[in-house]
Amino acid sequence: MHKLYNNVLDAIGNTPCVNVTFNDTHFYAKLEYLNPGGSIKDRSALYLIEHAEKNGLLKPGYTIIDASSGNHGIALAMIGAIKNYPVIITVSEKISKEKHDAIKAYGAQTIMCPATTFLEDELSYHSQAKKLHEQDPHSFMPNQYFNQVNAQGHYYSLGPELWKQSNGKITHLIAAAGTGGTISGAGKFLKEQNSEIQVIAVDAQNSYRSTNGNPQPYHVEGMGVDFVSPVLNHNVIDKFIAVNDDDAFAIMHLLSKQHGILAGPSSGAVAHAAHEFCKNHQPECMVAIFGDSGRAYLSKC
Ligand SMILES: Cc1ncc(COP(=O)(O)O)c(C=O)c1O
Repeated sequence: MHKLYNNVLDAIGNTPCVNVTFNDTHFYAKLEYLNPGGSIKDRSALYLIEHAEKNGLLKPGYTIIDASSGNHGIALAMIGAIKNYPVIITVSEKISKEKHDAIKAYGAQTIMCPATTFLEDELSYHSQAKKLHEQDPHSFMPNQYFNQVNAQGHYYSLGPELWKQSNGKITHLIAAAGTGGTISGAGKFLKEQNSEIQVIAVDAQNSYRSTNGNPQPYHVEGMGVDFVSPVLNHNVIDKFIAVNDDDAFAIMHLLSKQHGILAGPSSGAVAHAAHEFCKNHQPECMVAIFGDSGRAYLSKC
């Protein structure tokens, strides 16, 4: 039963976990697209902002500036609208029209940057956000790619929720890795409850990490470790599974047509990896994180 909330920020989290069965495999999908901003990023963005407020890094009148593949930007734009901060998001050309429009619908400004292969490239959306932030002393950059507080958001929000929701029965966590915040934060919390829990990160097959530093373009948004991420905690990750675009998109379509779950491409990648893992290992209770909704990509795929 939901209570009466003060605003949408109080309604972040407490998303449902539903059974997904494919032939002889089954896992639970945690539907993070049911967060108010439509993705898993509501959790980490809110934590990053409130942590900065508490620590005096973000003050009234400041502008929030960050780079985002879309969902972190949507979450920041939503939070900025409620807390009355102007928000500027640098995005890459890879972003879906729907996510780009959503950021602007919350009143935030976007800056389009080329889709560079390397995050350190001076034209990348991350470099351009950093430059803007350095030029404005009255700005705060959550810096989701390099700020460990990103993972703490999931440590305090998603991790405890998964533990409680499964009555402590969760045996496997599988989630997409972009910054690595989700898998590292929630994975750390779960391992502290039960060190036997297996934590599996899903990466893009063409990412910097999967290709040992020779990345190639790919289309799945949000997922893909494209740099040496300080947020990604290798100590809590037992296994990486790399998934290609075709496999991610194929199962994404099956999820909507056979299961009524209209999730996004990174959820398709997670579902593909979960299905392959379950075929060989039959985990007792695997929870797969579905990061966002397929509605954000309808014009793209
Ligand atoms: C849809 C979606 N799934 C997964 C991720 C990866 O999450 P993280 O950055 O916490 O690794 C993101 C990140 O933006 C995302 O947008």
